[in-house]
Amino acid sequence: MKFFVDTADVNEIRELGATGLVDGVTTNPSLIMKAGRDIKEVTAEICGLVDGPVSAEVTATDYDGMMREAAVLSEIADNICIKVPLTFDGLKACRALTDGGRAVNVTLCFSANQALLAAKAGATFISPFVGRLDDIGLEGMELISEIRTIYDNYGFATEILAASLRTVGHVKQAALIGADVATVPPAVLRALFKHPLTDKGLDAFLADWAKTGQSIG
Ligand code: G3P
Repeated sequence: MKFFVDTADVNEIRELGATGLVDGVTTNPSLIMKAGRDIKEVTAEICGLVDGPVSAEVTATDYDGMMREAAVLSEIADNICIKVPLTFDGLKACRALTDGGRAVNVTLCFSANQALLAAKAGATFISPFVGRLDDIGLEGMELISEIRTIYDNYGFATEILAASLRTVGHVKQAALIGADVATVPPAVLRALFKHPLTDKGLDAFLADWAKTGQSIG
């Protein structure tokens, strides 16, 4: 499973990237707003921090506008992945962009049928939003499972990028189902490292080590 970080905070990306665990980055207009920086400037900086795909989202809602914005975003770096919404125009843009050799992430997916259309439109990634389905009382993870089955039924190459993941439990479930990618906020990625028994065990080892009076190196 690949890990992407879902943020436009370059300090977080730099720190987490140093672990070697970050395979890419996803951004969206809300995350750019949160970063408080110019989209082209911050996206260029992010692209320089990771080798993998960096999703940058168009904000136009019509096909021509999306294609215009995609051309501008594509100029930023070679590892830009154009993010388009799962709409009629968005999927039309997805097909045109992937036919032109661009990587495309189709976002705001909330149903298996939408994911099927995105795969048929040649999407590189489909982003089903788990947490937002949970928010309205549905079982978001069921969507990941349904998409996995459908894509495997037909051998679609589109990668399932589980998004709107809010907890470490979400990450585990997505991995068990076989999502190709989990995009997670920095805090969730950090939380994946943690276990109380790791902390307790380390404290005990260090206390015993101190009693030996030894040092290594
Ligand atoms: O990757 C999509 C993500 O940014 C949405 O997450 O928590 O705002 O639903 P959330």
